[in-house]
Amino acid sequence: MRKFNGPRLVIASHNAGKVREIDELLAPLGVEVVSAAALGLAEPEETGETFRANAELKALAAATVSGLPALADDSGLAVHALGGRPGIHSARWAERDDGARDFAFAMERTEAALSGKADRTAHFVAALALAWPDGHVECFEGRVDGTLVWPPRGGNGFGYDPMFLALGHDLTFGEMEPAAKHAISHRADAFRQLVAACFRRGR
Ligand code: IMP
Repeated sequence: MRKFNGPRLVIASHNAGKVREIDELLAPLGVEVVSAAALGLAEPEETGETFRANAELKALAAATVSGLPALADDSGLAVHALGGRPGIHSARWAERDDGARDFAFAMERTEAALSGKADRTAHFVAALALAWPDGHVECFEGRVDGTLVWPPRGGNGFGYDPMFLALGHDLTFGEMEPAAKHAISHRADAFRQLVAACFRRGR
């Protein structure tokens, strides 16, 4: 397992919500973070068929071009009664005909696909890949289980958060304070694994 020995790390995401969350998760480690957008890096096409494959290709592309270690996340919502959809297509389900992303629309699509189904269970998945300019990659996958509510509730978070109720909780991710979501989210789960393996000396 290769360790990150910093000090700078590229966050290879163009999604402002994700960059903010990853930034908040990294802040306590004293890592100097720079976003792919700030470096003007192009966003590679997500051609992988799994969350892991997409996280790895995004991290590798950013590390190779920037010459710095890069961290990428690929994540999404897997709805059990829909055979895991929207899955790796979670962002695409938000695309309207003109290409604009609208997550109210994505949630409506999800609800319409679920209509009449008794099983409303789902989970969020996050794959986090840390890549180095020499092509080495470490990847970790996290998950949080829950059910989908309708109508959506809350204005916090992003994406499908307002319709996701984590198991054992009364507030949706959209209603939770960021710190409460961070404590239990799929991204936090993957992050804990990444930090334990690659950021803490002597582990
Ligand atoms: P990608 O990883 O950039 O392909 O996009 C993943 C998509 O999954 C996001 O645009 C969101 O729609 C959804 N998603 C991933 N993580 C979360 C989350 O923590 N809350 C809500 N939606 C999420």
